[in-house]
Amino acid sequence: MTAATPSRSTTEASALVIKPLSSFTGAECTGVDLANLKAGEWDRLREAYGTYSILVVRDQQLSKPDQIAFSERFGELELPIRADYLGKDYPALHVVSNLGKDGKPNPKAALDNPGNFFWHTDASYMQRPASSTLLYAIEIPPSGGDTLFANMHAAYDALSTEMKQRIDGLRAVHSWEQSRHNSGSRPASAEEIAAAPPVAHPLVRTHPKTGRKGLYLGNHTSHIEGMPIEEGRALLKQLLEHTTQAQFIYRHQWLTGDIVIWDNRSLMHKASDDFDMGGHVRRLHRTVVQGDVPR
Ligand code: OGA
Ligand code: MN
Repeated sequence: MTAATPSRSTTEASALVIKPLSSFTGAECTGVDLANLKAGEWDRLREAYGTYSILVVRDQQLSKPDQIAFSERFGELELPIRADYLGKDYPALHVVSNLGKDGKPNPKAALDNPGNFFWHTDASYMQRPASSTLLYAIEIPPSGGDTLFANMHAAYDALSTEMKQRIDGLRAVHSWEQSRHNSGSRPASAEEIAAAPPVAHPLVRTHPKTGRKGLYLGNHTSHIEGMPIEEGRALLKQLLEHTTQAQFIYRHQWLTGDIVIWDNRSLMHKASDDFDMGGHVRRLHRTVVQGDVPR
């Protein structure tokens, strides 16, 4: 474990304002510079993150090292499974974009990772999946390309008592290989499968910090351990449909300079593919924090 490198902090008075974005998830943070935190701001951000599961911090100007230093406050950073996602200059910072090799917007580049357009929770195919993801908007198309978030605690709470009993104690198998298949991506390579063999996690997981129960599933799931494959997939499909109903969703419309921090233990997310991928640039800087074994 590498020690976290704290981002700088000063003792000037804070102008940080934290405002809820919806009745059940998300808070907007303004008047703060994540590269120069003032006294008390980190504690307030961390507390709000525990309450809202998504922080949308506006108007940031972060270099790659600034984003990495701030991200490390949340824990150790995780490197992507895909070798081609390792950032060239900073391996832990991966650029999400629709830019082709020639530097021009290209739908093929955006669709190179179609999994982002399916509901998922980051790296759930790992034994220790991502706790938090930080996505920072460098360039955003004039319309479309939102990111959608579904709150899995609210969705769990809304299940019938019968369904809660039915799924209690079940474990879902998450698999990088199956995930690639689910999203119609190029098949997983042998190296990738070796780095991320299938792993089972509780279908209902308890958030390690808040103790709240939530469904834990998405595009990386394959089937339910100990259940006939098709029966397990039908159950996962039913729960996914339940969880992604409008009342559990916060839709983020990006502004350049936003950094969005979300809790993968509480939320699923997906990108929307409704922007002009050949005509406009969508480019974001992504860092991922490694979490604990789900329980
Ligand atoms: C991700 C992701 C969605 C988006 O970076 O993990 O799923 O809107 N991104 O780009
Ligand atoms: Mn993701």
